[in-house]
Amino acid sequence: MTEEKKTTTLSERLAAIRKTSNAISAFAPGMTVAREFEFKAADFERVRKLIHARAGISLSPTKQDMVYSRLARRLRAKGMKTFAAYLDHLEKGLDTGEWELFVNSLTTNLTSFFREPHHFPILAAHLRKIATRRRQINIWCCAASTGEEPYSIAMTMADAFVPGNAPQASLLCSDLDTQVLATAERGVYTAERVARVPPGQLQHYFQKEGDDAWSAKPELRRMMRFARINLLEAHWPVSGPLDAIFCRNVMIYFDKPTQYRILSRFAPLLQPDGLLFAGHSENFLLASDLFHSLGKTVYERARK
Ligand SMILES: C[S@@+](CC[C@H](N)C(=O)[O-])C[C@H]1O[C@@H](n2cnc3c(N)ncnc32)[C@H](O)[C@@H]1O
Repeated sequence: MTEEKKTTTLSERLAAIRKTSNAISAFAPGMTVAREFEFKAADFERVRKLIHARAGISLSPTKQDMVYSRLARRLRAKGMKTFAAYLDHLEKGLDTGEWELFVNSLTTNLTSFFREPHHFPILAAHLRKIATRRRQINIWCCAASTGEEPYSIAMTMADAFVPGNAPQASLLCSDLDTQVLATAERGVYTAERVARVPPGQLQHYFQKEGDDAWSAKPELRRMMRFARINLLEAHWPVSGPLDAIFCRNVMIYFDKPTQYRILSRFAPLLQPDGLLFAGHSENFLLASDLFHSLGKTVYERARK
């Protein structure tokens, strides 16, 4: 083969690859792309509306590929050939189990132990302060995902109290996604997941299960309760007063009116000196009538 022929072949190949990848990623209105399942722009809009109505999640218009790959698994499992047929099936409303799996498929559950670590010394100091005057401490972690966040809170609670004189501690761990919540309740993590837990706390609060698993000890589990709670729903099975709410890295998926509605329901649940913890890229300035920033994405109730 001559050098010239080789070049031609390569450029032909490149052109072919470009053409294929355009066919896969192009997404003009009304256009069907070359994929296993038919997925039109109108289907994507339907998914956006449904997940917004069910979970408050605002999916950006750039998430078509994500939606396709996450829901394609559901279509395969249900033996559906097109997104339109799958969405029709959902909207008939007879398959509640599928609704749950639809929502579970579209949540983003990224988390880790002691994520945004600056919050934990703030929580510990707050707990030590209030433990002198309260015999019951209640905390809610309302987007607990697979549990790394609530177990980090539970370790901080257990460490903050004087042994023998500790108040009763209760930690409600909730999430909308039933699958991640089941993982949280199991409380078993791989060595890779627990690598961010300081060695002293790991040895004290977890026990090794086989080669690559660590499970939370009863000392932590005993203070934790797990429940599926959709922050969008009218009823939350949560009783106050709460000493802290962890609501980190979930508000970012909601639009501003939804955020405000949720914040206005948090405020009366919190003790007057209770703390609200937000995620690093979230701020609750839109609710300055309800919450006052203490810096470092920690809030307290606004004084009237
Ligand atoms: C990115 S994770 C954040 C996990 C943890 N809070 C952290 O900061 O590491 C967002 C979590 O919010 C949950 N979520 C999304 N919409 C929700 C809703 N409407 N009600 C309750 N939880 C929701 C998701 O299922 C997911 O587990």
